[in-house]
Amino acid sequence: MTAFDMERILAETMVRRIEYRPEIASTNDLAIELATAGADIFPSLTVTDRQTGGRGRGANQWWAADGALTFSLTIDAQANSLEPHSWPKMSLTVGLSVCETLEHLLAGRRVHLKWPNDVYLERRKVCGVLVETIAPRPGLIVIGIGINVNNTFVDAPVERCSIATSMSDVTARSFDLTDVLIRQLQQIERRIKTVVADSADLAEAWRTRCMLEGRTLSIELGPRRLTGVCHGIDDDGALIIQTEGGIERCFAGSISQIH
Ligand code: BTN
Repeated sequence: MTAFDMERILAETMVRRIEYRPEIASTNDLAIELATAGADIFPSLTVTDRQTGGRGRGANQWWAADGALTFSLTIDAQANSLEPHSWPKMSLTVGLSVCETLEHLLAGRRVHLKWPNDVYLERRKVCGVLVETIAPRPGLIVIGIGINVNNTFVDAPVERCSIATSMSDVTARSFDLTDVLIRQLQQIERRIKTVVADSADLAEAWRTRCMLEGRTLSIELGPRRLTGVCHGIDDDGALIIQTEGGIERCFAGSISQIH
């Protein structure tokens, strides 16, 4: 039996349609498949108890053992007044919304945002975000989120447990997945409103949680690699790097090393 209470999700969030699968390769893939086939009720949620082939940014994979929360929310940008110029802020904004959810549920724990969209709990990765658009449905945005909730890394190989954690590993208790999901969906909705309003609080909120600020790092920008000291995140979501050649503002890229 699933841990998700569909009636509560529909009653307490902006979600208007739910596609649940006990097991699926990727909730983002299912969302894209449904939208491509002509789905027309949004926001829609694709959610599963067991995701077996989760995708991450670039060539990354997302491993989710039982007890993890993996879902995708598909929104109609126009219906949410999200102008295309604000779409590049979405990944960072969604990452921020996860930080805020975890801060609420885990009061007193350190939660940080690793640009562009990873969330770290007590210095280990607890969540990944994958925001995608759909070529045949250009007005739709798929927000895929994986949060390590009740799964554990305690018995994982050292190379994994040293970099990943879960909410239950940190607190030694378990969480109701419906409660976490509802809180997270509500926080995304709140944060989308601040993107639309172009609110100054948005940039301030991701700046104060930036885990890279002050660190020397390397970032891969396609064939180019930059190394320098991170000066935080700009109002438009760019990562600011002080390199030997001057200030660089990065809108995309992958952090390959934190020195
Ligand atoms: C990353 O770490 O690079 C991002 C990982 C994103 C994983 C989530 S889990 C739900 C959704 N479905 C997927 O296939 N990926 C995202």
